[in-house]
Amino acid sequence: MITGASSGIGAATAVALARQGARLVIGARRMDKLEEVAARCRAAGGEVVALACDVACRESVEALVGRAAETFGRVDVVLANAGYGLVAKIHETTDEQFDAIVATNVKGTFYAMQAAAAVMLRQTPVGQGRDRRGHVIAVSSGAGRRGLPLYGVYSMTKAAQLSLVEAMRVEMKEKGIYVSSVHPLTTATEFFDVASEKSRVKTSGAGKVQTAAQVAAKIVKLIERPKPELWPAPFSRLALSLAVFFPRLADKGVAKTMGSRKR
Ligand SMILES: NC(=O)c1ccc[n+]([C@@H]2O[C@H](COP(=O)([O-])OP(=O)(O)OC[C@H]3O[C@@H](n4cnc5c(N)ncnc54)[C@H](OP(=O)(O)O)[C@@H]3O)[C@@H](O)[C@H]2O)c1
Repeated sequence: MITGASSGIGAATAVALARQGARLVIGARRMDKLEEVAARCRAAGGEVVALACDVACRESVEALVGRAAETFGRVDVVLANAGYGLVAKIHETTDEQFDAIVATNVKGTFYAMQAAAAVMLRQTPVGQGRDRRGHVIAVSSGAGRRGLPLYGVYSMTKAAQLSLVEAMRVEMKEKGIYVSSVHPLTTATEFFDVASEKSRVKTSGAGKVQTAAQVAAKIVKLIERPKPELWPAPFSRLALSLAVFFPRLADKGVAKTMGSRKR
């Protein structure tokens, strides 16, 4: 089950999984785009159900996971991917902007995790050791590890996702439910167009750009071999971990990197 599958990383992951014959339930708000992705999945060899879903609404997320369980008998993987970016300095962010991004990025992930757990805890374990009930994956960001200027509230939502993942992974270990986070850096998707529209300011990615297909290929590997965190861009994990020990240096680094963003 994938949320936010109508474009970008979610769509690319759906198609990559379909190539391996996956049975998918995909959700997003724009049904026309979602149906296009569903058609690409079918052409690639996958079986797919496309359903309108707004992750800011608990019932909508529960319906998506429920539909996956009902259609295919079990839900092996839930990919909480839906999300968007906001460009606004902290002191300029409105309450409306704050509440809206928390509703989608944080609550949307929280709802998906809860709906996944409700179904997965009832499932018979599978896998070589008969120890795997399911895998919950949240698409966070490199910004989940280090707050970025102009992306402060967005970074907070990505850090919140990481905290939820870290806690749930330990809570669910004995139950055979694996929980992972994904931390892409700049990826060529609709993300920056949507962020520009939401923020009413033109923004674009910084640093080396990955394609959605590159990130998707790594998510497929993560599903094959679960691990706590996936950092698709080379050295990004190391660079952002160093920020914990050298915050002043990190301040300078992000100021320089983010300098290329228009504001
Ligand atoms: N692109 C990057 O540079 C980058 C870097 C780090 C992390 N990420 C993260 O990667 C994830 C995917 O983003 P992307 O880069 O693939 O951007 P994207 O192309 O804009 O895709 C975002 C997806 O989320 C869906 N979505 C947004 N709000 C939703 C809602 N309320 N309910 C249901 N679906 C919703 C969109 O579908 P609809 O509009 O049709 O609903 C779309 O399918 C996000 O969580 C983002 O924060 C992206």
